[in-house]
Amino acid sequence: MAAQQPTAAPRPPVHGPVHVPVHVAVIMDGNGRWAAARHLPRVAGHREGARAVRRTIEAAIDQGVAWLTLYAFSSENWRRPAGEVLDLTGLLRHYLKSEIAELRANGVRLRIIGDRARFPADIQAELATAESSTAANTRLNLNVALSYGARDEIAQAARALAIEARAGRLDPEAIDAAAVAARLSTAGMPDPDLLIRTSGEQRLSNFLLWQAAYAELVFQDVLWPDYGATHFAAALAEFARRERRFGARPG
Ligand code: IPE
Ligand code: IPE
Ligand code: MG
Repeated sequence: MAAQQPTAAPRPPVHGPVHVPVHVAVIMDGNGRWAAARHLPRVAGHREGARAVRRTIEAAIDQGVAWLTLYAFSSENWRRPAGEVLDLTGLLRHYLKSEIAELRANGVRLRIIGDRARFPADIQAELATAESSTAANTRLNLNVALSYGARDEIAQAARALAIEARAGRLDPEAIDAAAVAARLSTAGMPDPDLLIRTSGEQRLSNFLLWQAAYAELVFQDVLWPDYGATHFAAALAEFARRERRFGARPG
């Protein structure tokens, strides 16, 4: 069976002369340092970070961004002390219950990417409800990466291709980039145009390694709990100044 082609990315909306990215991905980093600077427990930083998530969703809607992908918890974050993992899952449980109505009111469609099976059953059920109850929304496509790791995601796509090939449903010679992309958790979604990381760290930490091949990278020296509309607008302004070439000859 031929691999399903991802749907074409919509053309970037243009506000005056400024190009707005279709898809913005964010590595929300610095909660622990924010808390430490205030002599607070790390969980206080995570709690404040959740408020920044709300502000960023609103900013994305205001700016006309169609897709927003937020890195909330990596597959490696399970290695953190048990107490912090418990705090994070507790916050997730709390916000899933309290934010769904808000997402629905704002026309946000929520999707989860990552290995949700590692979360407790009640959270998995809440995630499924949150996705299905926002499925008809079209104003903003919000992906939240939970227990997400890009290497696992790519390995899983490779496994799916191998299984299809073994079953005779796929010609191994026909496997191309589109065939891989169609088996990632982001199948059918546009690739991120802009990837933001906060807190001053300049690395990808296993986030969207495949999808971010041509994303513009913007590193902002602000701790995630302090993030808001002004920082988001600054990142979009930086994006608008970049010249994207995709390997083609400039000019
Ligand atoms: C980001 O903040 C949130 C998660 C990774 C869950 P951190 O918890 O990584 O904060 P720092 O990097 O220690 O400051
Ligand atoms: C990346 O941040 C994951 C998230 C923001 C959810 P980390 O804080 O876990 O990454 P490293 O350990 O600094 O690379
Ligand atoms: Mg960190």
